[in-house]
Amino acid sequence: MPDCRIEPLTGERDLDGVLEVEALSFNNPWTREMYTRELENRSVCHILVARTTEWTVAGFCSFWIVTDEMHINNVALRPECRGRGIGSALLRCAIDEAADLGARRTILEVRASNAPARRLYERLGFYVAGTRRNYYTAPVEDAVMLWRDSGRGDPAAARPCP
Ligand SMILES: CC(C)(COP(=O)(O)OP(=O)(O)OC[C@H]1O[C@@H](n2cnc3c(N)ncnc32)[C@H](O)[C@@H]1OP(=O)(O)O)[C@@H](O)C(=O)NCCC(=O)NCCS
Repeated sequence: MPDCRIEPLTGERDLDGVLEVEALSFNNPWTREMYTRELENRSVCHILVARTTEWTVAGFCSFWIVTDEMHINNVALRPECRGRGIGSALLRCAIDEAADLGARRTILEVRASNAPARRLYERLGFYVAGTRRNYYTAPVEDAVMLWRDSGRGDPAAARPCP
């Protein structure tokens, strides 16, 4: 179990932390305006943040739940916080929360070349459902669509959420 707490995003300070992790992690980071719009629709949009002793927001996972489907939009950790199991804990927690809210399937897209993320998703039971040609820009790249069927994040693992 990694040394972190996983909680729903609350307030501007958390949003600042999410934007910082976005900027450190992606070529085309989501903007404050995009997140603000997302957060106006809290019945669909959910954001969990991972906190460590050093960081109020060490990482985050944002996802939608639409009817019985969970769509993971973004998951990222501060570079210095990667490789400690926090990304796995965040995803398990998000999948558990979505299952509690009625999600029966999880879907996401990932850059074809993003080996660390793809390994993580595979470990959590995702499988390849198809590809979207040239889905990403800067640089242009295919997206691999991954699905995961219903179930909790990992029945064998203790639930990481507080
Ligand atoms: C993808 C990402 C979220 C994974 O988060 P993470 O916290 O590094 O993931 P984990 O630590 O759970 O697992 C990653 C690796 O660390 C290893 N690990 C897990 N716990 C560990 C520990 N306590 N000590 C050392 N290594 C550990 C895992 O075995 C795994 O190794 P592997 O990739 O060789 O299989 C992170 O790399 C990231 O932020 N990437 C940039 C943004 C991104 O690409 N997001 C995905 C968009 S679709």
